[in-house]
Amino acid sequence: MTTRTTERRRGATGATPVNEAAIADAALSYQSGFGNAFATEALPGALPEGQNSPQRGPYGLYAEQLSGTAFTAPRAANRRAWLYRIRPAAVHEPFRQIADSRIESRFDQLPTPPDQLRWDPLPMPSAATPVDFVDGLVTMAGNGAPSSQNGCGIHLYAINRSMRDRFFYDADGELLIVPQQGKLRFDTELGRIAAAPQEIVVIPRGVRFRVELLDAEARGYVCENFGAPFRLPDLGPIGSNGLANPRDFMTPTAWYEERSGRFELVAKFMGNLWTAAIDHSPLDVVAWHGNYAPYKYDLRRFNTMGSTSFDHPDPSIFLVLQSPSDTAGVDTIDFVIFPPRWLAMEHTFRPPWFHRNVASEFMGLIEGVYDAKAEGFLPGGASLHNCMSGHGPDAETFARASAADVSRPQRVADTMAFMFETRTVIHPTRFALESAQRQPEYYRCWSTLASHFDPDKP
Ligand SMILES: [Fe+2]
Repeated sequence: MTTRTTERRRGATGATPVNEAAIADAALSYQSGFGNAFATEALPGALPEGQNSPQRGPYGLYAEQLSGTAFTAPRAANRRAWLYRIRPAAVHEPFRQIADSRIESRFDQLPTPPDQLRWDPLPMPSAATPVDFVDGLVTMAGNGAPSSQNGCGIHLYAINRSMRDRFFYDADGELLIVPQQGKLRFDTELGRIAAAPQEIVVIPRGVRFRVELLDAEARGYVCENFGAPFRLPDLGPIGSNGLANPRDFMTPTAWYEERSGRFELVAKFMGNLWTAAIDHSPLDVVAWHGNYAPYKYDLRRFNTMGSTSFDHPDPSIFLVLQSPSDTAGVDTIDFVIFPPRWLAMEHTFRPPWFHRNVASEFMGLIEGVYDAKAEGFLPGGASLHNCMSGHGPDAETFARASAADVSRPQRVADTMAFMFETRTVIHPTRFALESAQRQPEYYRCWSTLASHFDPDKP
């Protein structure tokens, strides 16, 4: 298909056309804070003064509200943004379903086994097979359903091409993207975000965007949150600082492009992908204000807490973001990380203990080695331990930690693992259960844990 485009692009200053080749993270600009009432314009005066919907918008822009919560949601939970754009989001042709998508929201294809499950990393696509972000998404697991706005989809991506002449939005959920390899740039309606491994990006439900590769190839994880938008957890006795601090969340300033041509708008809606023709770039928001916007966060900024006396605390101390459910204190999804840190606990088995939880745990590894697994859990790989499935340190880790000198602090370095922990069981898809990357021998990592019991030695 031949695509003809005419384009004008403007950065946040509005003064200079953006030089595509020169765009790196340093060239982008962000606003600091979590869920702030941001206000930003790429052209001076593009934001109306004193009202949201003037009779005629500045520069001839259309006003459009994007609501991420019910109008009547309590103020602390209410999320919405006002967009001032060249054309309204309604301008596109009818959608038709894409039949061969690998992203899905049906989690009842096969019975869910109570086994511990683990996978090797997805292979990168070959250079002869260009795969962009939308085509590269493959669903590993999930729970709940978009129709009930509860639960999540868990996807992986392995890609080697930027999205060309197409744009994507997800009406089913908010996207929490965890790059594991390769830098990406997310060109969204509300501005541009560059992200490298060790950073995460959150794109709210419905926000249209395009993913550009800044490296030759990229791989990572996506949690598609069907439920309430992610928020920062309360800190309780920790106090007013610590864990993920609000000022470290970065939301882009306004940026737009004015492009005409033959483009594609891809929507994820009710579990399916849909495509519609669109004759212009939907990334045409010249100014916006509000608290419903994409953001990124550098996981290395996480202010990790831990025990300085004895015993390993519950992993809830590693909570970065939570999607609350309708039951107070019980989240639909917790996003948890295991960053580099010092362990100083005395007379303590220092790695995470053996456990079974009512919650279910999908883990990934961004870099290095996870401190409960000496082997087999690779960067880019994944594991799933579902409700009440026993798991914990492997036999090698148990032997090493049981004999370690715990009279002095020990640094856990060279690691960044994370977990999507959910209230309900995470169902692996047929792709995940039948994948060549699945490790059928995973259970053996515990099989050499011998009995040390001696009734004569208290
Ligand atoms: Fe666990």
